[in-house]
Amino acid sequence: IPSHVFQNAKNASTYVAGQIADLIRQRSDAGENCVLGLATGSTPVSVYDELVRLHEEEGLSFQNVVTFNLDEYFPMDSDALQSYVRFMQEHLFDRVDIKPENVHIPDGTIDEAEVANYCRDYEQAITSAGGIDIQILGIGRTGHIGFNEPGSGRESRTRLITLDIVTRRDAASDFFGEEYVPSRAITMGVGTILEAKQIYLLAFGEGKAPVVAAAIEGEISKSIAASFLQDHANAKIILDDAAAEQLT
Ligand code: F6R
Repeated sequence: IPSHVFQNAKNASTYVAGQIADLIRQRSDAGENCVLGLATGSTPVSVYDELVRLHEEEGLSFQNVVTFNLDEYFPMDSDALQSYVRFMQEHLFDRVDIKPENVHIPDGTIDEAEVANYCRDYEQAITSAGGIDIQILGIGRTGHIGFNEPGSGRESRTRLITLDIVTRRDAASDFFGEEYVPSRAITMGVGTILEAKQIYLLAFGEGKAPVVAAAIEGEISKSIAASFLQDHANAKIILDDAAAEQLT
């Protein structure tokens, strides 16, 4: 699995945003849509900043862009501080010319009884859009991609999951205390993610170094969902020096 190590997160993010922008423009020239799978969290923030810069300064249009986010806490109001709807609006969608109807983020406000149907519809919407062209991923310290915590299999699909204790601890500051972090989330499955045509997994900082090494050099297993990327024909790992520290 090819890994590209950059001096810092900024350079790495500029590269990834450039790859995304190239495909958006190429598709636009052909009169076609570009379907992006997007992540939240601290890792992709500079990618979104660079996409916004390209929109403002270099005329990059998002009129032909369709997006599907990986996950959302459950339950979660869309206007809550920690909601991924709000995150995406603040970091990207409110700052570019994307069509609101082209944006898809798992809905943390639906009734629990509706979740299974909702997840099936989410998968169907991805398929109807033609599948994901470029999927952006971060990685959690548990090895999760999306919120596919240890135990998530290669065939898993969009569903309601229980968050790992490590993940809840890492989210504690966002929620002003671990006890306020939701215990569940809706996430695309590993199988859903692996169907993307091109995948970029980004990881920055020394805190990610052990899980990055385990995911890309360790055995492929359910205990680290990101390890399934080793089997993807078109996945790239994008690192800064610190996150690459434990690679052999
Ligand atoms: C977020 C997501 C998660 C994060 C991961 C890393 O949509 O799917 O897998 O990418 O938890 O989070 P950060 O980037 O905050 O370290």
